[in-house]
Amino acid sequence: MTEAVLLVGGQGTRLRPLTINTPKPMLPVAGVPFTVHQITRARDTGVTRIVLGTSYKADVFKEFIDASDLGIEVVIATEDEPLGTGGAIRHVLPYLESGADEPVLVFNGDILSGLDIAGLVRTHQETNSDVSLYLTTVEDPRAFGLVPTDAERRVTQFLEKPQTPEEIVTDQINAGCYVFKRSVIDSIPTGRPVSVERETFPGLLESGAVVSGIVDRGYWLDLGTPLAFVQGSCDLVLGTAPSPAVAKTGQSLVLDGATIAGDASLTGGTTIGANASVASGASIDGAVVFDNAQVGANSRITNSIIGEGAVIGADCVIDGAVIGDGAVVGAGNELLAGVRVWPGANLGETSVRFSSDRS
Ligand code: GDD
Ligand code: MG
Repeated sequence: MTEAVLLVGGQGTRLRPLTINTPKPMLPVAGVPFTVHQITRARDTGVTRIVLGTSYKADVFKEFIDASDLGIEVVIATEDEPLGTGGAIRHVLPYLESGADEPVLVFNGDILSGLDIAGLVRTHQETNSDVSLYLTTVEDPRAFGLVPTDAERRVTQFLEKPQTPEEIVTDQINAGCYVFKRSVIDSIPTGRPVSVERETFPGLLESGAVVSGIVDRGYWLDLGTPLAFVQGSCDLVLGTAPSPAVAKTGQSLVLDGATIAGDASLTGGTTIGANASVASGASIDGAVVFDNAQVGANSRITNSIIGEGAVIGADCVIDGAVIGDGAVVGAGNELLAGVRVWPGANLGETSVRFSSDRS
């Protein structure tokens, strides 16, 4: 038996306004809540039981898990107050069934990866490590936790979100998946917030524990920002990122009840949500359109998220933007890189029509 803990209690602030009503792991990605991709992938690689460590909007998880059969036992633990990553891992201890020396997997709830999960557990046991971390390499590691290792794959340091150039000593980062010897979880303090990255891991190094880092250069993405969220969704639809929850890959995924005009173009792994509509001449490339949203004639949408029930008028150009649930974007608006439209906002139509100028 292999047990896993999925940390899903964060507030997802970088994905606001989408995360105001829906916690990040419950946002729809390639047709299902993101957490389903992680849970089914863990299931297919030998995990038999998953404890969801929830905090922010815990009832949204509970309702969904109660109503679903994901082919694996899923248990929900909820913190009264957010306890941080380490505190959340300690908080689920009473919910675990593993013995003191057995391995327990821990996953951040926003990671899409092709990691060999069974291989990580095997290496952890072969090296008799106290904790093993899955590491990946990225070009710009500043937004992550840096984890240098020595020739024996022992971790030498933890540098969470480095602030100065001198701290950037490696391109290896914490990829958000760990194996803990269960007894190590017992030693995390209770009753107060604890950061696993800033407190638990450095403390283990100081105490001489065996902390191993295993680099895997396969597919990896943290869906924490709007652009990464869109990329992850598109990679799943295109089949670049692996998930048992995507039945058929291709240029686009159109969910039940959506209406797509015959001359509209959907490319780059775009998802169109249930009962959404895309009008004549519209082109949507690499985007996520949530359920019940409407895209007007000749609008061009790229690298963007259109929230549930949002209405995009005709002739709009939307690139790199997040449109909140139920927002109305009048005809002819141009919304570019980084723009966020709050849920329910109403942007009137413009007198100048961008999309027709720029064809
Ligand atoms: N239950 C619970 N309670 N979960 C939490 C809490 C909490 O108080 N705080 C955060 N989490 C969950 C989040 O939901 C997320 O799944 C995970 O813990 C990590 O939090 P993020 O907010 O996504 O952290 P990050 O992306 O800035 O950094 C982390 O991930 C990187 C890899 O993507 C760190 O682990 C970095 O070291 C790492 O490189
Ligand atoms: Mg993250």
